[in-house]
Amino acid sequence: MPLQDAAAQAKKLRREIEQHNHAYYVLDAPTIPDAEYDKLFRELQALETEHPQLISTDSPTQRVGGKPLPGFAPVRHAVPMLSIRTETDTEPSGARAFDARVRRELGLSEGDPDIDYAAELKFDGLAINLRYEDGVLVQAATRGDGETGEDVTQNIRTVHRIPLRLHDCVPPVLEVRGEVFMSRPDFERYNEKQRALGHATLVNPRNGAAGSIRQLDPAMAAERPLSFYAYGLGEVRGWDLPATHSAVLDALAACGLPVCEHRAAVQGADGLIAFHARIREKRDALPFDIDGVVYKVNSLALQQRLGFVTREPRWAVAHKYPAEEALTTVEAIELQVGRTGAITPVARMAPVFVGGVTVTNATLHNEGEARRKDVRIGDTVIVRRAGDVIPEVVSVVMERRPMKDLNHPLHPPFALPKTCPVCRSSVERPEDEAIARCTGGLFCPAQRKGALLHFASRRAMDIEGLGDKLVEQLVDNAIVKTPADLYKLGLLAMANLERMAEKSAANIIAAIEKSKTTTLARFIFALGIRNVGEATAKDLARHFGNLDAVMAADVERLQQVPDVGPVVAASIAHFFAEPHNIEVIEQLRAARVSWPDGAPSAAANSPIAGKTFVLTGTLPTLTRDEAKDMIEALGGKVAGSVSKKTDYVVAGAEAGSKLDKAQALGVSILDETQFRELVRR
Ligand code: IVH
Repeated sequence: MPLQDAAAQAKKLRREIEQHNHAYYVLDAPTIPDAEYDKLFRELQALETEHPQLISTDSPTQRVGGKPLPGFAPVRHAVPMLSIRTETDTEPSGARAFDARVRRELGLSEGDPDIDYAAELKFDGLAINLRYEDGVLVQAATRGDGETGEDVTQNIRTVHRIPLRLHDCVPPVLEVRGEVFMSRPDFERYNEKQRALGHATLVNPRNGAAGSIRQLDPAMAAERPLSFYAYGLGEVRGWDLPATHSAVLDALAACGLPVCEHRAAVQGADGLIAFHARIREKRDALPFDIDGVVYKVNSLALQQRLGFVTREPRWAVAHKYPAEEALTTVEAIELQVGRTGAITPVARMAPVFVGGVTVTNATLHNEGEARRKDVRIGDTVIVRRAGDVIPEVVSVVMERRPMKDLNHPLHPPFALPKTCPVCRSSVERPEDEAIARCTGGLFCPAQRKGALLHFASRRAMDIEGLGDKLVEQLVDNAIVKTPADLYKLGLLAMANLERMAEKSAANIIAAIEKSKTTTLARFIFALGIRNVGEATAKDLARHFGNLDAVMAADVERLQQVPDVGPVVAASIAHFFAEPHNIEVIEQLRAARVSWPDGAPSAAANSPIAGKTFVLTGTLPTLTRDEAKDMIEALGGKVAGSVSKKTDYVVAGAEAGSKLDKAQALGVSILDETQFRELVRR
């Protein structure tokens, strides 16, 4: 590109990037997905590389982050907070390129041995420097522009996982660097709560974290649950530096700092590639967002030799995964009616690849949220799909809204209809609730389908093969009205359905037959009582021991069950007061759906009744769900973390810190074989 054109283009890109920077860093309201931003940024970098005379001190490429906000005292970092070079080639070649660069810089030739790397996760939150003096947290600062950040000590103190005092570790100065982030469950829970209150929700976990830390009111920050992982050091005085980065992290963990268990010391490019692939497999199941992994040359001596280019160390790189947010356009807004009648607006969108899959629908949650986000047909939106979470519309790119003229959008704002789009029953929304519901009950085919799908689902009656399409046909053809009707299905009726091969019909009939033998907890869960999830169903089964006792219990007796409060008790009593529900239950019993009664006493005789287990790592043959089921069937409990109260830790491959902790506390540790032996007795 000729210099003159390049100069104009660079100027345009800078202005655009600065606008996005401001929205993202200062306002915490991003206007485009990260991937789009990165693209603009890389385009500018390329221009500046091609024409170095274009680089100006005010170019966004010449600084690391946003300016400190007014309101927080500035903090000058003793050691600058650097950024890492990003490898956007998400394929193995990305890791090979980094390894090749490092080897070249170190002057190694092909015959020389592999380099040792520390591989870890790239957390998606806010970088923080924690300054400990004589073992006490004295200051926490954001990165800011890398030289000067903001003093956010007050807010950081509200993050429970950050120790205010280190454990048996009192060097004069120890600065720990890491990422503050919001876990997905915390994010979902927080947004659920906000939605129920009709309040604005957080855009994504990263903005949740950034927004909380930048809250001027620490009480508000405290309401938003944050986490932290340490990944490096700043200034250090009077602390013996280990020889490798892995050992530094071990030492920090020993001081009581949270260090992520998903990390490994690996050798050469192949080791990096294997780590990248392994974490990619786990990415959806992680309880927090990551946008890639980070590779670091493990030896601190080699790190020193490699040094830095501008503000990026030569010894580290971030190797990305496909983005979890992307841009697309809304083609329609449809309404879904769930099994409890809840009406959810859903955006149908032009297909877009996000979070590793192609997405065409995203939930808008409820009327209030759809209106707050003001999503309309034709809008360009940011969609997000992270983990196992249903894709959702994050926000609208208002600048791209189709307009009739300057002030008039082409399409009106979203509004919920007064009648159910499926059965035409009236739609109701109680004053204090965010969710509108169809009042049709099981008269509404949509609710009927939802109830059947729930009944058949894996954690309920577990009828394999009874999915969306089949339930749709069964209900639409009036073959099945209630769950009890499933057990009256004949092979003929089934095989006559459209596109149903005889063999699959037989398989489903067999699966239905098999589901007749179940557990009380699964059966209660399968009934789809409002507010009764899997955990409550288990509590009810354990407490009452048989169905008749649950059905006969009044609200008071129900509340004697642990964790059952007035709302849940009322839902249960209400369900069993409905003659129609009793009729279905009687029909199911007549069809010989059964479970062993008196589960609590049967379990009470087991060797593991009342014992607490923690599962960690990957077991050779059992999935986590299977192991959990086995433990609970025998009256044991499964906990998420190891403590003195843990009786057994069942450990598989790549068991991390939980295993260390179990060893430290002297908890019995079992492998899968030993575990199977224990539960077989
Ligand atoms: S190390 C000298 N390790 O990524 C290297 N950074 O551009 C300093 N990040 O904002 C950073 N996970 O907050 C490092 N495991 C990890 C990380 C990580 C996330 C963030 C960091 C910074 C950005 C680097």
